[in-house]
Amino acid sequence: MSSTIYAFANQKGGVGKTTTAVNLGAFLAWRGRRVLLIDLDPQGNASSSVGVDRFALPVSVYDVFMGETPLRAILAPSAIEHLVVAPSTPVLASAELELANTTEREFVLRRALYQVDYSVAPPLPSLRDEFDHILIDCPPSLGVLTVNALTAADFVIVPVQCEYLALEGLAQLMQTIALVRENLNHELTLFGLVMTMFDPRGRLAGQVIQEVRTHFPNEVFETLIPRNVRVAEAPSFGEPLVKYDIHSRGAEAYEKLTNEFLMREAKLAKRNWQFTDGTNLHDPSRVDEGAPAFGNEPSALSDSPSATGDSPFAIGGPPSTAESETL
Ligand SMILES: Nc1ncnc2c1ncn2[C@@H]1O[C@H](COP(=O)(O)OP(=O)(O)OP(=O)(O)O)[C@@H](O)[C@H]1O
Ligand SMILES: [Mg+2]
Repeated sequence: MSSTIYAFANQKGGVGKTTTAVNLGAFLAWRGRRVLLIDLDPQGNASSSVGVDRFALPVSVYDVFMGETPLRAILAPSAIEHLVVAPSTPVLASAELELANTTEREFVLRRALYQVDYSVAPPLPSLRDEFDHILIDCPPSLGVLTVNALTAADFVIVPVQCEYLALEGLAQLMQTIALVRENLNHELTLFGLVMTMFDPRGRLAGQVIQEVRTHFPNEVFETLIPRNVRVAEAPSFGEPLVKYDIHSRGAEAYEKLTNEFLMREAKLAKRNWQFTDGTNLHDPSRVDEGAPAFGNEPSALSDSPSATGDSPFAIGGPPSTAESETL
């Protein structure tokens, strides 16, 4: 049974990418799912948020990107059973530069996840086959690390902060997703947007959510993540909310988000993953003729192509040559 890979991406900083990846991952693991959390941010917040002392690590994601270590060799246990981490350290910041002139630099993570280890007998399966969910926490940029995450992923989850200018940068992110889908990973699909740090006291948050829902009518998760002090405190204790304070409002919201996530995933599995030739998305025998996995659907859940056409948020459609060259 193969895992499903999710990239948590938004080039805007501080919107809740790490908090959402960590707490969704922890709640999935708490329910017994085997979860791999990959920290692709040199800040290493995902690693430290689940109790990994990243300054004591001999190897990290950086060594994988440099081709010096298999991904399996850097995996570390976390504060939560069933949640395993591929940690990052500040040195990962130099990977962008060091990879700049290497060929196929966008595929490093994908290869690492799909690689079967034949050096031992019997061979070790790929990491993709060892977990139920693989969650990738992206840095706040659209550089080579985020592109690696998008190239490896099946789905993108976009955390959006409930604040003024929340939509800023989303058009560019959708365009990047479209470019990756077109050029590097035909299966990549928008899974959903998570509204974070919601403060019900002001009128602004409600307006922002309304505006985001107008642009993404089918993609925004119903669950709103409230601004909650326990959410902000938990990382400094190296514990996800499920362990730090499961009764907090933040934990309740992330548990609800996990339920919605699983329902959405089950709905998709039923609806999209079976192709007319009887194969599914992860079937290696499937012949990919270059067509996007979900036809012209701009996102995993939309019933109508609402985000296509003239919208600046369209993720379908061919990129211009100039745009393709930027990848
Ligand atoms: N619901 C919340 N309530 C209170 N604080 C929150 C909440 N969600 C996130 N935070 C805090 O806001 C800050 C930014 O969150 P987070 O690190 O998850 O964002 P990010 O998008 O991963 O940031 P970066 O772009 O720097 O990687 C952190 O200090 C985090 O603890
Ligand atoms: Mg982060």
